[in-house]
Amino acid sequence: MTTRMMLAAAVLVTGVTVAAAQDPIAERKATMKANGDQARIGALMARGEAPFDLAKAQAVFQTYADSVAKVKGLFPDNTKTGGDTAADPRIWETMSDFQAKLAKFGQDATEAKAKVKDEASFKANFSEVQKNCGGCHETYRLKKS
Ligand code: HEC
Repeated sequence: MTTRMMLAAAVLVTGVTVAAAQDPIAERKATMKANGDQARIGALMARGEAPFDLAKAQAVFQTYADSVAKVKGLFPDNTKTGGDTAADPRIWETMSDFQAKLAKFGQDATEAKAKVKDEASFKANFSEVQKNCGGCHETYRLKKS
């Protein structure tokens, strides 16, 4: 590989990283969508419709906790509208409350991950952590018509 080619490759990689960070709406939606996927897996196990699996249960809570770290910086002022967002403009009016709800969600998920040992403890912790989703969406996510 010539130096020139390596430089070109480096520029390409940097370009891709920057492009991703420039679309916070798409990123926060993708991150939330992953939460939705994990919530479905968790709900099946909680209802006994899928066999309990400790690793999967922990992955649900880990995904939630990671999502908070990813998403908290993805609500800059210039993303109130556009990009097909369902974020409610109230987020920017009461940003500190929104961020506090996010932080609590992350904390609850982290604690739940540490507490889950078996099916019974999963059910109890899962239903508690899930309250965060609706509790935030109710105020801060626009209903799809
Ligand atoms: C502190 C607030 C908050 C919490 C907690 C929260 N969400 Fe969200 N969620 C949002 C907001 C805001 C949006 C809209 C994002 C947008 O469209 O820009 C959203 C969008 C979504 C979406 C739609 C993603 C898409 O494809 O557009 C799903 C699915 C979702 N959340 C699942 C969850 C689940 C499951 C939980 C709990 C385990 C959760 N969320 C917890 C604020 C939150």
